[in-house]
Amino acid sequence: MLSTKLSAALNKQIQFEGSSSQYYLAMASWAETQGLNGVSAFLYTHADEERMHMLKLIKFVNERGGHGIVPTLTQPPVTFKSVKSVFEEVLKHEMKVTAEINNLVEITLKEKDYTTHNFLQWYVSEQLEEEALARKIVDKLKLIGDDKGGLYFFDRDMEVMAQGESKAEEKTK
Ligand code: FEO
Repeated sequence: MLSTKLSAALNKQIQFEGSSSQYYLAMASWAETQGLNGVSAFLYTHADEERMHMLKLIKFVNERGGHGIVPTLTQPPVTFKSVKSVFEEVLKHEMKVTAEINNLVEITLKEKDYTTHNFLQWYVSEQLEEEALARKIVDKLKLIGDDKGGLYFFDRDMEVMAQGESKAEEKTK
């Protein structure tokens, strides 16, 4: 059975994953309107992944005798300055998620809840991957700078990456 404290903390994370999904969905939609189909495909997949992170938490909380609360939808930003600024935001956001997950892990240790601790290990490794990927993308964009041709190829690479991501996501379901 989950403690009240842990249940509340996990519900906070449910909310966070839900708003991450909304955030990336808004980025995907914006990128699509800019003709960046690869970038938008990648971000749509990323938004789906965040929804899956939320769902996994809801189910776990319920399984442990708590109640996973479906969070309110809040309006994310509508437009973004550039592709680079989008991925800088993604990286910043993922770093925040990692900090939140680490905080949750710390609570499980304090409360000696090893089942939740074990469950959260999946999120710990997922965050490692997500942060590394976001960092790699930001680095690529820094190299491209204002080169329009570079951005075109970047968009094509993102399309390929999006296909890989959705295959990987299928496997984790
Ligand atoms: Fe669910 Fe990207 O953190």
